[in-house]
Amino acid sequence: MFKSRFRAVATPLSKGKARVTLLFVTVGLVSATVALVPIGCGGSGNSSSSVGLPNGKATPAQVAQGRYLVVGSGCGDCHSNGGNNPSAANWLTGYHAGDTAGIFQLGPGTVVHAANITPDVGTGLGSFSDQTIFNVLRFGFDPASPAGGPQAYVAPVMPWASFRHKTDAELWAIVAYIKHGAGAVANAVDANTGVPPDNWAAASSEVAVGPATPPAFPAGNEKFAP
Ligand code: HEC
Repeated sequence: MFKSRFRAVATPLSKGKARVTLLFVTVGLVSATVALVPIGCGGSGNSSSSVGLPNGKATPAQVAQGRYLVVGSGCGDCHSNGGNNPSAANWLTGYHAGDTAGIFQLGPGTVVHAANITPDVGTGLGSFSDQTIFNVLRFGFDPASPAGGPQAYVAPVMPWASFRHKTDAELWAIVAYIKHGAGAVANAVDANTGVPPDNWAAASSEVAVGPATPPAFPAGNEKFAP
């Protein structure tokens, strides 16, 4: 019940908002003629004339902002064996056998590994559309979710529930950096085991992860104390 309410509200809103923000960002950053492809038109990614993503070129400003956000958000804590050093050989390459980080025992028989999020086509994110990566960060949608089937989510150790509070422009910047700023490194991460039958849908409901839009301040145990 919560799952469907969450999805019904969040998905269309995001698509509309993302389109508006992208236009704004692109117009602000690029003076040349811009041909944007509407978001959500599929992952064919053959729009080389589009600038500022989706599926087109990233701007230098987006990549720089995305790098700052990726380093500062601790993506490497899990995706680089506990390190947040962009010059490391394992930068964003995900879990490797023997790593002490990026592997999570979430229950008996349930083991999850941090994915390779470099732009490598075979083992990383190289073949994912920009929107697919955005949807991981905003909604927790698993890129491997079967088309037409019930929505699958990434394991809840991937902290999308906090990342989704970043602005659309910030999330696009992260997409820009991991697709167009990080080096492609092949590393086939071990498959997860013991994934629950609902593919983490219950663990990803709004009740489980908190509201998509925080309530007005002050709420609950908050107070303004200047
Ligand atoms: C606390 C650990 C942790 C942190 C921090 C983290 N991730 Fe993840 N991430 C994971 C795990 C584990 C998975 C795999 C989830 C699964 O397989 O269900 C994952 C999956 C992903 C995926 C989906 C990849 C795929 O092939 O399915 C993307 C994209 C991603 N993370 C991006 C990021 C970015 C960007 C950041 C930082 C802004 C980040 N992650 C921070 C643990 C983490």
